[in-house]
Amino acid sequence: MHRTTSLQFTTLIIICIASFSQVVHALALQPQLVHAHGGGCIPAERAALLSFKKGITTDGAHSLTSWHGQDCCRWRGVGCSNRTGHVIKLHLRRSTVRDPDDYYYDGCSYAKSLFGEISPSLLSLKHLEHMDLSMNCLLGPTGHIPQFLGSMETLKYINLSGIPFTGRVPSQLGNLSNIDLSSNSLTGEIPTDITSLAAVMNLNLSSNKLSGQIPNLIGAMKSLVSLDLSENKLSGEIPSSLSGLASLEALNLSYNNLSGRIPSGRQLDTLNSDNPSVMYMGNSGLCGPPLQQNCSGNDSFIIHGNLGSSEQEFDPLTFHFGLVLGLVLGLWTVFCALLFKKTWRIAYFRLFDKAYDQVYVIVVVKWARFTNTIAE
Ligand SMILES: *[C@@H]1O[C@H](CO)[C@@H](O)[C@H](O)[C@H]1NC(C)=O
Ligand SMILES: *[C@@H]1O[C@H](CO)[C@@H](O)[C@H](O)[C@H]1NC(C)=O
Ligand SMILES: *[C@@H]1O[C@H](CO)[C@@H](O)[C@H](O)[C@H]1NC(C)=O
Ligand SMILES: *[C@@H]1O[C@H](CO)[C@@H](O)[C@H](O)[C@H]1NC(C)=O
Ligand SMILES: *[C@@H]1O[C@H](CO)[C@@H](O)[C@H](O)[C@H]1NC(C)=O
Ligand SMILES: *[C@@H]1O[C@H](CO)[C@@H](O)[C@H](O)[C@H]1NC(C)=O
Ligand SMILES: *[C@@H]1O[C@H](CO)[C@@H](O)[C@H](O)[C@H]1NC(C)=O
Ligand SMILES: *[C@@H]1O[C@H](CO)[C@@H](O)[C@H](O)[C@H]1NC(C)=O
Repeated sequence: MHRTTSLQFTTLIIICIASFSQVVHALALQPQLVHAHGGGCIPAERAALLSFKKGITTDGAHSLTSWHGQDCCRWRGVGCSNRTGHVIKLHLRRSTVRDPDDYYYDGCSYAKSLFGEISPSLLSLKHLEHMDLSMNCLLGPTGHIPQFLGSMETLKYINLSGIPFTGRVPSQLGNLSNIDLSSNSLTGEIPTDITSLAAVMNLNLSSNKLSGQIPNLIGAMKSLVSLDLSENKLSGEIPSSLSGLASLEALNLSYNNLSGRIPSGRQLDTLNSDNPSVMYMGNSGLCGPPLQQNCSGNDSFIIHGNLGSSEQEFDPLTFHFGLVLGLVLGLWTVFCALLFKKTWRIAYFRLFDKAYDQVYVIVVVKWARFTNTIAE
């Protein structure tokens, strides 16, 4: 009797705590909801956007004329979270819709671009996730991609395509999953640090002036879905680690100065199955399938894709075998012990009986109370 009442008491306490935490949770969300409905943006973020506007010297398409008044969430190109009211999106891509030819100019040779700099005031947008400033002319005093972009922790998508930045690809780019720096004038090598961006899904460095080799560690970018390095001056061999990228769906290495045998392997062989050679065209030194060029004369120097990636891989088959083996061995040890040791056997069955009795009593008592309450 005593045991069941304490059980009920415990259940009651658990229910109380659970519902209390629900209430607290709802209350905690309340101010944010009120804020979002009340309109207006967060003052510090509004100030940051106005500082950014100050960095724009010419606004060729009058993109920022709506940037006045209190509610920065209604300004053109600014997106706020419905839930928190924070600025999460800045989308000021120059429209190329009206005249498709616009696309072929870079941002600085077109009067309707934004001219000026990308102000470091954007660092105050602590919740910014999406930033698209593509096809504009925001070179700033240096003409380089601003360093501070690498410390914007919440940024997931950055598109600076068609801004003719010079200098190098920044080695620090934060926690991005989409990086489009295509159609710039970036020089130097692809920094090896970029390969530490394990979260990057789409990387586009096409149409720059990048030289040197493709980093061997590219195989560490396990999340890569698309990789476009076309139209650069990359040389050397294609790293065999590329064949270990299991998520890769699009690859373009065309129009570079790559040489040697094209690595083969699982995912790589499935890409562009209609016409796989287009990923590699425009590299006079490449040979082997899917290209026609024969590299049989160089076999002694060639390291095959699969041998090259000597990393230890997780094999689910071995894992499951080990699991089953462990289970069987463990069960047999207990069983044998019970079989051969009489005192253990007796103790084991006593324990079992006692547990059964206890459960039986609890169930019967509970059932009796339950039927009683129903009867009342
Ligand atoms: C925010 O609300 C607007 C209008 O109610 C809606 O169109 C938009 O999709 C919402 N955005 C998000 C991210 O939920
Ligand atoms: C980046 O912007 C360019 C030009 O505005 C556009 O064509 C391209 O699709 C964008 N890239 C991504 C990854 O969205
Ligand atoms: C990446 O994100 C984590 C949390 O998701 C954060 O702690 C870290 O500082 C971020 N790193 C950079 C370089 O932004
Ligand atoms: C990379 O950017 C170039 C130029 O902006 C574009 O033509 C190409 O389609 C992009 N590649 C991918 C895979 O999106
Ligand atoms: C690869 O890039 C080249 C040059 O930028 C382009 O002509 C070609 O269509 C692209 N191929 C694929 C498969 O994306
Ligand atoms: C192409 O790469 C080779 C080395 O593989 C180098 O000697 C040559 O100068 C490069 N050509 C161009 C045009 O960059
Ligand atoms: C490649 O070259 C070898 C001899 O060097 C020759 O036997 C073979 O037929 C060639 N293959 C192709 C596809 O041209
Ligand atoms: C074979 O190797 C030599 C030098 O090692 C190189 O010049 C030649 O281009 C290679 N041939 C092919 C088809 O890769």
